Amino acid sequence: MAESTKAGMAAGARLTRWPGLIEHYRRFLPVTDKTPVVTLNEGNTPLIESPDLASRVGRNIKVYLKFEGANPTGSFKDRGMTVAMSKALGEGVRAVICASTGNTSASAAAYAGRAGLQAYVLIPKGAVALGKLSQSLMHGARVVEVIGNFDICLKVVRDVAERDPLRIRLVNSVNPDRIAGQKTAAFEICDQLGEAPTHHFLPVGNAGNITAYWAGYREYKSVGLSQRLPKMMGYQAAESAPIVVGHPIDDPHTVATAIKIGNPASWTSATSARDESGGIIDMVTDPEILTAYRLIAAHGVFAEPASAASVAGLLKFSASGGLKPGSIAVCTLTGHGLKDPDTAMKNLSNTIVVEPDIAKVLKILDS
Ligand code: F0G
Repeated sequence: MAESTKAGMAAGARLTRWPGLIEHYRRFLPVTDKTPVVTLNEGNTPLIESPDLASRVGRNIKVYLKFEGANPTGSFKDRGMTVAMSKALGEGVRAVICASTGNTSASAAAYAGRAGLQAYVLIPKGAVALGKLSQSLMHGARVVEVIGNFDICLKVVRDVAERDPLRIRLVNSVNPDRIAGQKTAAFEICDQLGEAPTHHFLPVGNAGNITAYWAGYREYKSVGLSQRLPKMMGYQAAESAPIVVGHPIDDPHTVATAIKIGNPASWTSATSARDESGGIIDMVTDPEILTAYRLIAAHGVFAEPASAASVAGLLKFSASGGLKPGSIAVCTLTGHGLKDPDTAMKNLSNTIVVEPDIAKVLKILDS
């Protein structure tokens, strides 16, 4: 137990109510006293130490999982959405729109519902995990399934929003308020560890999140709240890896539908984050992603397949001897495993059906 926690409990300190990330990190965010705060108390997600991954990686390296699945809608998107939605509401916008592989739309729908705004979401038909689709519908978004991939959806919503930005606000990560909110994950990691890690692993899709983390780490260091900058280690899925191969992919494929993106909007800022931090952007195959997905789940942490790309990246990089002894690695688990029940079920052995008879149950348990 951390010394501060022991001291707190000994002094009888009670748990306080987390107000959401805008209140907690207000001075770093583009809000004023007049901005109406649209919050579902997002942020303050657990940084879970992983002794299992540490023992696989070896060399006295510590490994932590930043579990963003613990946000209100089950993904890191809530960090950006609280800021983007607050700004939109404060500026008198009536509706928000986004393209999405599923998580952005779920989050936009939830925060729009909270703000009393209409959400319009465009998603690639047949390529969004069930949990995410059901969230968008339950939160009252107008869901449009487009015959085409994410990149096509993004082009359409950008065109729509450009026509009348004061009426319909684009809430994809090309909206700078999204990036501002998402950078708070880097602040939290520095606060939770007492220092920035040496390496930060994360999946890369549209490349907003790697951009946001890098902005957050730099900002925290610039105000003296951390002393070092981590290497940014981004991972794309092998058949959806435009940044790695160096050109857009027209028809991306991967089991990790959240990062099935062929032409990332924040491509340039992602490569800047890589180059300025001395990190890499590499790719991991679907089998590597699924192995990591099962591995972390077997040790109690259920994240969606795209999230597991960060862990697959850690394992790949450490197997190549890339991590020095004493390194501190953080992997962001971007979304909850419950988002994508279909992929989970495909990766399980079948359950066993039995009559309620103790002898029969024992026989199965023994076999
Ligand atoms: N992991 C998950 C679970 C995601 O949903 C996404 C992106 C990423 C990683 C990649 O983050 O785009 O900032 O590089 N999902 C977007 C969406 C595209 O529409 O939900 P990124």
